[in-house]
Amino acid sequence: MNRRYRKTIIAGNWKMNKTLSETRAFADELKPLLGKPKWCEVVLCVPYVNIPAAVRLFKENRVAIGAENCHFESHGAYTGEVSVEMLKELGVKYVIIGHSERRQYYNETDFTVNKKVHAALEGGLYPIVCVGESLEQRELGVTMDLISYQVKAALAGVPADKMRHVVIAYEPLWAIGTGKTATAEQAGEVCEAIRAVIRKLYGARVARSVTIQYGGSMNAKNAAELLAQPDVDGGLIGGAALKAPDFVEIVNAANQE
Ligand code: 13P
Repeated sequence: MNRRYRKTIIAGNWKMNKTLSETRAFADELKPLLGKPKWCEVVLCVPYVNIPAAVRLFKENRVAIGAENCHFESHGAYTGEVSVEMLKELGVKYVIIGHSERRQYYNETDFTVNKKVHAALEGGLYPIVCVGESLEQRELGVTMDLISYQVKAALAGVPADKMRHVVIAYEPLWAIGTGKTATAEQAGEVCEAIRAVIRKLYGARVARSVTIQYGGSMNAKNAAELLAQPDVDGGLIGGAALKAPDFVEIVNAANQE
């Protein structure tokens, strides 16, 4: 973390978990434990159907709400899809774009990721852009090349003045939902490389202002060590964000003056 230059952001990604009543129960449990964190931004990215309730329930604790995806078009004949404008009107602030599960199961490509990043920024949402390598790619030694390509493709055409709204999440596929976390050194190394790519594209001032998160089996036990890396500015948390006490412990690890 380096709070001098950029925000620390702890974001939960609920994926396809929690009904409306479970969302309410989570809020009841979370709110007294969480308080109002001062030194980091707390975000919960929840299923579309829970967004209106989540916006209402978490407002007083200053938890920002995010969506887990969006469409790149503003409206039209796209059955089952949700636009940035629809999310914005509900009070959504962040949107996860290009999560590996969407790349793997729903035909998300670097091209659609780029279009969605543009749509989010134009519509006033903060995109959390996910990048990450598979185990095979890591073993082949192409991690940095791949990550650099994914970052460049996602940001193609994004002007420098919009970059302060962009969050990048480094999520190695082999660490997602596996209980296998990247070591702090591995996470720090790739997050540093991501910042170097942004520096080449936009210069040092923009690069140091961008929040870069780590995601992949981050939990209450390993959060502090991961966040101690200078280029790891937060976390994108799956499983551990479904349990209020665990999520709060991760927030506490980040919420240091
Ligand atoms: P886990 O924390 O469950 O590994 O999920 C990480 C993730 O995919 C967050 O987007």
